Amino acid sequence: MQTYYSDLLVIGAGLAGERVAVEAAQDGFDVICLSIVPARRSHSSAAQGGMQAALGNCAKGEGDNVDVHFGDTVRGSDWGCDQEVARLFADTAPIEMRRLAHWGVPWNRVVPGKSFYFKGGEKFEKEEKEEKDGLITARSFGGTAKWRTCYTSDGTGHAVMCTMDNRCAELGINVFDRKEAISLIHDGDVCTGAVVRCLRTGELEVYLSKATAICTGGFGRIYKATTNAVICDGGGHIIAHDTGVVPIGNPEAIQFHPTGIVPTDILVTEGCRGDGGTLLDVNEERFMNIYEPEKAELASRDVVSRWMTHHMRQGKGVKSAYGEHLWLDIRHLGDKHISTKLREVDEICHHFLGVDPRTQLIPVRPTQHYTMAGVRTDKDGAVYGLKGLFSAGEAACWDMHGFNRLGGNSLAETVVAGGIIGRKISEFLQGYETDFKTALVGDAVRKEQDRMDKLASGANGKENVYKVREEMQDALMDGCFVFRNDAGLKKCIETLQGTLDKARKVGLVSSGVGANPEMAAALKIEGQVKIAMCIAKGALERTESRGSHNREDYTDRNDRDWLNRTLAYWREGADMPELQYEDATPCYEIPPGDRGYGGGSIIQADQAEIDAKTIKK
Ligand code: FUM
Repeated sequence: MQTYYSDLLVIGAGLAGERVAVEAAQDGFDVICLSIVPARRSHSSAAQGGMQAALGNCAKGEGDNVDVHFGDTVRGSDWGCDQEVARLFADTAPIEMRRLAHWGVPWNRVVPGKSFYFKGGEKFEKEEKEEKDGLITARSFGGTAKWRTCYTSDGTGHAVMCTMDNRCAELGINVFDRKEAISLIHDGDVCTGAVVRCLRTGELEVYLSKATAICTGGFGRIYKATTNAVICDGGGHIIAHDTGVVPIGNPEAIQFHPTGIVPTDILVTEGCRGDGGTLLDVNEERFMNIYEPEKAELASRDVVSRWMTHHMRQGKGVKSAYGEHLWLDIRHLGDKHISTKLREVDEICHHFLGVDPRTQLIPVRPTQHYTMAGVRTDKDGAVYGLKGLFSAGEAACWDMHGFNRLGGNSLAETVVAGGIIGRKISEFLQGYETDFKTALVGDAVRKEQDRMDKLASGANGKENVYKVREEMQDALMDGCFVFRNDAGLKKCIETLQGTLDKARKVGLVSSGVGANPEMAAALKIEGQVKIAMCIAKGALERTESRGSHNREDYTDRNDRDWLNRTLAYWREGADMPELQYEDATPCYEIPPGDRGYGGGSIIQADQAEIDAKTIKK
């Protein structure tokens, strides 16, 4: 058995993982990163529109500062976030953007002079100042008071990912690709690494480490319609949750992006609307300005997705062979803008739709995009329940996003949280020693080998993993999408109980030998269904509407009863998740209030309780 030792094992080599790795390696620690795919093909590369940081350089960003960014983030979260974490994030983001520039990210820059921009289809003039010449510029994104999203055209994730991977190479960090962690090595108290399946050979390997960080991104692929890459299947969440002692934070907090293209659900960036694109209905008329007079297409994503769904329910959707959709119109932005600042969108439209966005409308609909849900950590990135285990980025519920993440805040979170948590891991590692217990390692490997043997031999049953996966995806689409209600959620849970039973009886059609994708799918199907059940159960119990969690039968945001975070555990031998709750935030810099968009009424929390937690300035 190949066994590797390191101070830090990072599972997932996207932006968060590599940023964590860089920080620990700079402090002289020995770091190994594992990735299912070559690091540069991580899903971080698919992030198009940019990263929020309050630099205040461009004309429409004037007056911006970290307090404004913090406020937008808290309002965006619908007061569901940890305000200490959101503050840490907003304060650090500008530093991290400049650091990325120093490391080589080719940010778009301020070009002085007059130019035009579009808002809601209308043309306005702006003037960039001479003294800002060459500084990092920004574009507009939803739910923000200022233009704050720093970008590299619409290939921001790709540019930053390549830069970060270069930085890893400079520091001599081992990034092993085509390796998938399939369980954590732990004794119920301390984590000491992972059992890993090599995706080239199918062989098991052991990675022992003093600290382990889960940075595997989101789990969008448990939904059928998602912008996420196939690798975003919850692998990291599953191995943490499977320990029985690590909770998934806010599983019901799932984001739906307004503009996935139809039928493939590939993302076209919010930057399209930020740059002036509009949403049109079957009559090619705008509608977001009617529902949201103030922010229109640039309300936060949960709000826009909701109104789009509502509008389609009013019979205003475009019928197609692939279901109903609406239109995104960027024709008025013109050829120069599209071929320079929205060039990936241009390519996606050409290659996946056969559409020229200069002259034609883009078919779009809300689609799963992001998981605010994640492996619950404290503000240092330490995972609840297991010493030596950390998590950062979308995989984690750190929790700066609460019930709705603002566009541009996740790519920024990868590097900001990655840097902060990487430093915390370095502090943890200083002088830390742990025992690698051979019996524990042996048991962990035998358990995984046994699981694989049973799947290959059909000893548990002959259920087809792909059919089981589809059943889970359909159940979530039907019961746990943009709008939720009691009957739909109960039905979803009932279906998923049956699906879980089938997931436990999966047997492979193929031999399972070597680099076998059916084996990879089968190894995680039970864990995926458990996460799906956590989403549905969390959503059923949360009898309010907050951010992306919208209940048709409980339309108020209920601060009196639900200003808290769900913690979903799956105990050994259980058939249902166990839900616990903790306060959403230890303190308020901004006490709960109206977001200023999205409508809805609020059941107020007890004022004395709010006052007691509010930081007086
Ligand atoms: O629309 C986008 O470019 C996506 C950005 C994000 O999810 O932050």
